[in-house]
Amino acid sequence: MSAGGPPAADPHPVREREIRRWHDSGQAWDRWADSMADPAARLNQPLLAALALQPHHTLLDLASGAGEPAITAAKGMNPAQGGRVLASDLVPAMLAGARRRGAGVATLSFLAADMTALPLAPASVDRISCRFGLMFVPDAAAAVAEMHRVLRPGGIAALLCWGPKAGNTLFRLLDEALGGVPELAVLFRFAEEGTLGRLFLEAGFDTVSETALEQSALADAAKPFWRPTLDMAFTPALARMSAEARAAVEDRITAAVALETKMDGKIPVHLHARLLVAHK
Ligand SMILES: C[S@@+](CC[C@H](N)C(=O)[O-])C[C@H]1O[C@@H](n2cnc3c(N)ncnc32)[C@H](O)[C@@H]1O
Repeated sequence: MSAGGPPAADPHPVREREIRRWHDSGQAWDRWADSMADPAARLNQPLLAALALQPHHTLLDLASGAGEPAITAAKGMNPAQGGRVLASDLVPAMLAGARRRGAGVATLSFLAADMTALPLAPASVDRISCRFGLMFVPDAAAAVAEMHRVLRPGGIAALLCWGPKAGNTLFRLLDEALGGVPELAVLFRFAEEGTLGRLFLEAGFDTVSETALEQSALADAAKPFWRPTLDMAFTPALARMSAEARAAVEDRITAAVALETKMDGKIPVHLHARLLVAHK
């Protein structure tokens, strides 16, 4: 598959749908990656802290998309000590943003691979990260088994998945405006406490911890602060709509935002993620 052309047909329909979804979303993710760097950094902090990275480590970042947390982690690695980060993703088109944003970072390299079948030797990496990727993998247990296989004994895997929709203002508002699009449900697949942890224990990890990560910010309601999320997370849903339908969605979002805007023109935007940390 090339980053430019359409993806080749895949014998597994669910996987093929995911490949097409992310292939079509790559440009939007690349376009917004720089302006989303600050919120992305806030999410990276607890994830990277949980990994306790050392400059000589090999970190495998799964589902890197436009490059986080791989790029941030790679900047802290020491090539002289063998430190490196492998940014991997199912879809080469999604890695285009990571390649552009990570150009010149000597410790960063790229790998197009399905996380359920990694072309890596057993026990070959010290750490694994995955930020908002596992939800999209139909056979998540196979992906976690692969993480366990390629991680060295004593290694750590840390992942972020979304918590409940009710705790995620942007997804809740956009879902209401879009009228319950199928792309949304999968985001909350591991929202219930304990679901992620069970997967990792069943795969053979020694210790597993799961923490709720809740953040709140005030957004300027007069600005379309919701547009990056709409473009990136709902590319296929938008592509299915006419220009009039898309304009109607934007009107509904604006109206919903107005209802929740405070006297000072700000709207509270809550985020609820789940941080999973597993030790092998
Ligand atoms: C929401 S994006 C997350 C990107 C990035 N980690 C971030 O947090 O900004 C989800 C990514 O998961 C990738 N993905 C979906 N299924 C995958 C699989 N089976 N193996 C590897 N990556 C996969 C998609 O291509 C997409 O880039």
